[in-house]
Amino acid sequence: MEWSEELSGGLLLAAPDAILVLDEGVIVLANDRAEELFGYPRAELLGRPVGMVFTDDSRAMHDEREPIGAVATSVRRKDGTEVPVESTSAVVDTPHGRLAVSVVRDLTDRAHAEQEKARLRAETQVHRSQRLESLGQLAGGIAHDFNNMLGVIVNYANFVIEEAESAEPDVKMIMADARQVIRAGERGTDLTHQLLAFARREVVRPQVLDLNTVIGEVEEMLRRSIGEQITLIVRPGAHLPPVTCDPGQIEQLLVNLASNARDAMPSGGNLVIDTEAHDDQVRMRVSDSGRGMAPDVVEHAFEPFFTTKASGEGTGLGLATVYGIVTQAGGEVSIASSPGLGTTVTVLLPAASGSLSAPDLSDSAPVKGRGETLLVVEDEAALRDVAGRILSGAGYRVLAAECGPEALELAAAHQGAIDLLVSDVVMPGMLGKDLAERLCVVRPETRVLYMSGYAQPVLHTHGTLDPGVALLEKPFTANDLLIAVRRRLDG
Ligand SMILES: Nc1ncnc2c1ncn2[C@@H]1O[C@H](COP(=O)(O)OP(=O)(O)OP(=O)(O)O)[C@@H](O)[C@H]1O
Ligand SMILES: [Mg+2]
Repeated sequence: MEWSEELSGGLLLAAPDAILVLDEGVIVLANDRAEELFGYPRAELLGRPVGMVFTDDSRAMHDEREPIGAVATSVRRKDGTEVPVESTSAVVDTPHGRLAVSVVRDLTDRAHAEQEKARLRAETQVHRSQRLESLGQLAGGIAHDFNNMLGVIVNYANFVIEEAESAEPDVKMIMADARQVIRAGERGTDLTHQLLAFARREVVRPQVLDLNTVIGEVEEMLRRSIGEQITLIVRPGAHLPPVTCDPGQIEQLLVNLASNARDAMPSGGNLVIDTEAHDDQVRMRVSDSGRGMAPDVVEHAFEPFFTTKASGEGTGLGLATVYGIVTQAGGEVSIASSPGLGTTVTVLLPAASGSLSAPDLSDSAPVKGRGETLLVVEDEAALRDVAGRILSGAGYRVLAAECGPEALELAAAHQGAIDLLVSDVVMPGMLGKDLAERLCVVRPETRVLYMSGYAQPVLHTHGTLDPGVALLEKPFTANDLLIAVRRRLDG
């Protein structure tokens, strides 16, 4: 086939890249894309040295005497802007002599993508170091708070012993001291709950629920905790779609926000909680008429351990926890506040598609045992002891073991039935899951309840626990334990 003018013209026109033909470094042919890429009309390109359109350091690459393959370089457009390109050259012998053909591809898009990637990488780096920094703060803060609580516990427990050993033990004093121990322990439990919620490790049991109902259930408790000088006003929105949340977490969120509001209104004021349906979201606002926040406080308010309160008065985890809870539920939280004008915290939660879950029974009265036999396996002696005492006190027969192998031995030696295995999940030597499997081979009728400080999703992803098993989160109250055991036995 003869190469016609029309055919080469068509090729030049159809090519997606700029094409230049060079004769001794001078442009003798340029296609339309070349005009666009270089920003010169064709008339200004033809007859000019190719160096005109390439940046200084790349001119040498476009010489037909030195044929080279593809190179990344850049061109300078007529308007002075530089464009990254990939230039591929070849040398052809024609009846008119040796010519070089350069195909120049615009890399702007690719360059943008690369820049974007680099920017994201840098951003991630910054986030990571910020995270590390707040982790450091977190560890320091926790250590400090726990030290205080442990100090209280150890000292008061010593007082209890001293008093009990004295010639005339004062029972009232012993009880008062023991109560101090309990109070410190409860504060510790609250703190770990806060931390776990903040770290999103807590066992969350999301349910489809009505936010107004949850608010109604904690209203009285909030009213009591904010004191009489503050008026609590609840304005439940009509036709509120349900949301998917853990009711305990919503409660925690409200408690945290209410306690902030109380601290901001030392001489009284109003605390308003309202809800409203907002397209496919549910909006909940918690507003106070307190002292408000300066912009720089608003900016840092959600950060863990950010507090403007005196040392020992606030841990700075309240809003960080609120943030953790809301984002975990797929929602958003924001603060509007200015000094003297009060504060509004707005929470937006996605509306759930499902229908309302059955009410949780966890608030019902403690449930008793009917002489069933439980095998309790826990490597931490104090906790094993506590669980054993709670359960035998409630009317169960308790066999206790500190590890899997010991539990299997106990079970082998035990004559009667073992109705329920209550086991820690992560124990040295044998995991709770492996213990349960081996026990159920010999005693298929034995049911299983796990206890763990780890969240169910975490245990699942690591294969430490199968989905769908019964799990009791630590730390638990006597009531939590009794309810979980009763449910597992009856369920
Ligand atoms: N409703 C509010 N009005 C005014 N300031 C607030 C309000 N809520 C939060 N703040 C400010 O934000 C800071 C952080 O609040 P956050 O609840 O996270 O911690 P905290 O209340 O200081 O301590 P914690 O809640 O752990 O006891 C507070 O110290 C306070 O300065
Ligand atoms: Mg707070």
